[in-house]
Amino acid sequence: PGKPDRPIPGTDYESVQPNTQDAIVVPEGYEHNVVIRWGDPVLEGAPEFDFENQTAAAQERQFGYNCDFAGLIPLDGAGRRNLLVVNHEYSTEPFMFRGYDEANPTEEQVKIAWAAHGLSVVLAERDTRKGGLSTRRSRFNRRITATTEFEVRGPAAGSDLLKTSADPTGTRVLGTLNNCAGSVTPWGTVLSGEENFNQYFGNADQITDPDQSAKLARYGMSGGASERLWERFDPRFDIAQELNETHRFGWVVEIDPHDPDSTPIKHTALGRFKHEGAAVRVAEDGRVVAYSGDDERFDYIYKFVSKNRMKKGESKHARRHNMTLLDEGTLYVARFTGDSPVEEIDGSGTLPADGEFGGTGEWIPLAEGDKSFVPGMTAEEVYIYTRLAGDVVGATKMDRPEDIEPNPVTGSVYAALTNNTNRGTEGAAAADEANPRNTNKHGHVLEWTERHNDATATRFTWKLLLVCGDPESPDTYFAGFDKSQVSPITSPDNVAFDTHGNLWVSTDSTGALGINDGLYSVPVQGADRGHLKLFLTVPAGGETCGPVITEDLVTVCVQHPGEVDGASIEEPASNWPDRGDSQPRPSVVSVWRVGRNGRVGRIGE
Ligand code: FEO
Ligand code: CA
Ligand code: CA
Ligand code: CA
Repeated sequence: PGKPDRPIPGTDYESVQPNTQDAIVVPEGYEHNVVIRWGDPVLEGAPEFDFENQTAAAQERQFGYNCDFAGLIPLDGAGRRNLLVVNHEYSTEPFMFRGYDEANPTEEQVKIAWAAHGLSVVLAERDTRKGGLSTRRSRFNRRITATTEFEVRGPAAGSDLLKTSADPTGTRVLGTLNNCAGSVTPWGTVLSGEENFNQYFGNADQITDPDQSAKLARYGMSGGASERLWERFDPRFDIAQELNETHRFGWVVEIDPHDPDSTPIKHTALGRFKHEGAAVRVAEDGRVVAYSGDDERFDYIYKFVSKNRMKKGESKHARRHNMTLLDEGTLYVARFTGDSPVEEIDGSGTLPADGEFGGTGEWIPLAEGDKSFVPGMTAEEVYIYTRLAGDVVGATKMDRPEDIEPNPVTGSVYAALTNNTNRGTEGAAAADEANPRNTNKHGHVLEWTERHNDATATRFTWKLLLVCGDPESPDTYFAGFDKSQVSPITSPDNVAFDTHGNLWVSTDSTGALGINDGLYSVPVQGADRGHLKLFLTVPAGGETCGPVITEDLVTVCVQHPGEVDGASIEEPASNWPDRGDSQPRPSVVSVWRVGRNGRVGRIGE
């Protein structure tokens, strides 16, 4: 590898300089706009946003808080009309409400927070000759919140462990929470991961059964009151009263944005954990495979293989069939084995003698329908306590598996391992070849190829594509590419592909390199493999999320702008996007290239 003769299509732009500006910074020759902001109207009858006079009734009809995943589903071939589907991961009350009292939130504030969670579906139109996306009122527009009814499907639906006093059937759940990453399925729906749902539940410490307490603790629930005190306003968030409610979150949910009246689904066949998201690849034989990471230090990477085959086409009939594909199949967890002697992996990030981190791996089956492959656990338990199943079978403990995405050009799969500062500390797992740095501050990006490139295979080979950080630091690696030519990167979080098969990576760093988060591109094939470039940066304190890369548009979410230590509503660290002395607002941004005659050009060409 070395300097290529010609730039790789899709990545031919001048890298942005790492910075700490309170702005969106894009390459020379590119422009951007703000598509939609927290509080902007989505549904008919929604009022304009008024920071000083918020109500739950307004928020239920407006764009939610902390946008994370974004999906863009074209309604025409030209890319003019699109459904923009966005996750609203969580609420940050001290930045939302002036004078917020953490010990005594008001009922209205709590109800605003419920309405600020979930997802938004909004029609986004585009002037494909001149610029970016702008939202419109439409019959598709929809808000899904913490109180929208979901149908539980798959092998654990109706389980006793999912029954509550409000839902004795164990099949109807109100709401989705902490929706982090996601994907658009090949059949035009959206998958979204319920991630850190544990934070919404209080009073785990009142559970006296040690087995039950251990299970709650494995899912991050052990203390008293929850951070937001929702249990004061709805007993289902009180574990002492309604323990099973905790089992009703931590799933992959599926939304059909084409049908605003459809009931969204929680898919139990994909297991319950802190799902970052889920992404689908279609196998040669038409079965579908969904990959999903559990974003926790030392947790696992999973794969689901469907029993049935996808129906092609965009008819309602085909979509209805395809929305059952994730109900039946086999759930697996990953084990990664290095191919270098263990003593060469010393936790420093120094490359082993063979010149790269890599090896082989296997998918260990956990459950298939009613059948469990895990000693001592029923299938129902495997789906609901999936982390414990991974523990039993000896899955590989990873450095916080975030977003996973198959490359649509090559079929190889990419996972962001965001960081893990506990790796190698006392009592914790030490570095291995797939997670080769102790106190891993900057994370890495893992690539694997299923045997014979068959998505349903149970064996694979893997490599690390990137070991992130400051390229001048010896413990970084950019697929062997000349490190003097690459941009610094820390804490990869979301991964996406452009139509050429280049990987795009967005970051969630909380300032680990002292630079703002951003969106990067990196070719994964040819002489330019590993040539990481910085495409855009987001305002101070913000995280870059949900990238969608089409031929002539880049769409990103800016999550939690201005959330830096010491900042407050009185002293905001960001005034983006409204400027002046305004409060920061999580928002969606689109970016395009100004080509010839002022017309939109292709990204990175
Ligand atoms: Fe919500 Fe794993 O980031
Ligand atoms: Ca994430
Ligand atoms: Ca974040
Ligand atoms: Ca993250």
